[in-house]
Amino acid sequence: MAAPTSPPSGNWRRAGDLLLHDPGPTCASSLRVPGDKSISHRALLVGAITPGPTEIRNMNRGSAVALLLEPLRQLGCDIDDRGDTLRIARTRQLEGIPRLFLGGSSAAARLLIGILAGTGTHAIVDGDEILRQRPMDWLVDPLRELGAHIDYLGEPGCLPVAVRGGALRPGTVTMTVGSAQARSGVLLASVTAGQPVVIHYAVRSRDHTERLLGHAGARIEQSDTSLTYQGGTLQAVPIIEVPGDPSLAAYPAAARLLRGSGPPLVITGVCINPTRTGFFDVLRAAGASIQYHHRGDRYGEPVGDIVVDGGCRNLEPFDVRDDFTVHALIDEIPLLCAVAAAIRGVSTVSRAEELSFKETNRLDTTRAMVAAFGAEVAVDSGSIRVTGGGALRPGRIPSFGDHRIAMAGAVLAGSLPGPSRILGGTCHATSFPGFIETMHEVGISISVTDDETP
Ligand code: S3P
Repeated sequence: MAAPTSPPSGNWRRAGDLLLHDPGPTCASSLRVPGDKSISHRALLVGAITPGPTEIRNMNRGSAVALLLEPLRQLGCDIDDRGDTLRIARTRQLEGIPRLFLGGSSAAARLLIGILAGTGTHAIVDGDEILRQRPMDWLVDPLRELGAHIDYLGEPGCLPVAVRGGALRPGTVTMTVGSAQARSGVLLASVTAGQPVVIHYAVRSRDHTERLLGHAGARIEQSDTSLTYQGGTLQAVPIIEVPGDPSLAAYPAAARLLRGSGPPLVITGVCINPTRTGFFDVLRAAGASIQYHHRGDRYGEPVGDIVVDGGCRNLEPFDVRDDFTVHALIDEIPLLCAVAAAIRGVSTVSRAEELSFKETNRLDTTRAMVAAFGAEVAVDSGSIRVTGGGALRPGRIPSFGDHRIAMAGAVLAGSLPGPSRILGGTCHATSFPGFIETMHEVGISISVTDDETP
């Protein structure tokens, strides 16, 4: 395994800070959040590998998804972006060996490597300084087992890589990590190559690739420990309407719980796939008033409203230690730890080693963010423990340029009287461009400043 992501060098504050003011008086009773980031990545890629154009509605507009557009153009796709909808179709043959730059988006890079390997497309895939540190061997090793030719051009196990074709063959592989990105990359390779595969894994993590490819005609069966792709021609997918992102819904939900008063908050049209709802499930089990109203299915994804009421003053501390739940809230661990700071007692998330390989080492950066409020937090071999219920103070909260840390810090800061400053907090736009407006809707008042002095 590659070394954990080291703290970003360079000036991660250059993005601008968020200033938190005293909580506002209003709290909306209903709101929407942007389209799901993971499904948006997959929607673009499915649009690129299926025949005919695909219209994507409600696509996530964060920079992590936008980073995939230029590489897809380089690979011969026409993209007509009208703001509210985006149409994508593969129309041109590729000439030469493109160098594809995916910035900081690991999902975009890993899923694309899978497609390049499966379609036998020669290309170089690269990313920014942070993405270059993140493990690619999770995906490259099983792809090589299936016959792909992929070379590391820099550090072994990391970007940049050269994908050099090689016919993919049918086979059985075992994933060494729970990462949905790695498993999805392998599945996309086999499906685009039309070669049956059995993928074994220790934990069932987000399964949007399986559901969307199944909708497009791939014959895929999954269990808790493996999936099987048995062939099936991919059909045109004319429209994909992306449901709201449960990872983004978690921020207004947490803000509402921390505030503890106001009308019930209904977050409408959210993806409530159980591989994604761990944050809500854990707080529900701890005693929070959170309900799902299932409204129907879209492209195999259950979609519904999430209703949040009450507060978190009387919640029981939680102890998350099963792999399924850890992966079902993998991106919400910073936020869950921020909420834990307001819950009396010791709350723990264990078996979260993979958090060390995110945009930052999120075990360390979550600890630093929650500790900046004066809470007691400890990290020990893949576990993070928060002793909550004590006095919390507003202040200068580091984000380390990591959008999940920034937004979690802003939500907790927004529940406290007195001003706070989320250093480098405008990085929220990686996944949630409208974060500030959504926070206003739940009574959290935020402004942006480029002034680094105070
Ligand atoms: C994602 C999977 C998760 C998650 C990331 C998006 C995806 O990463 O943290 O934000 O789109 O498949 P891992 O698969 O590496 O756990």
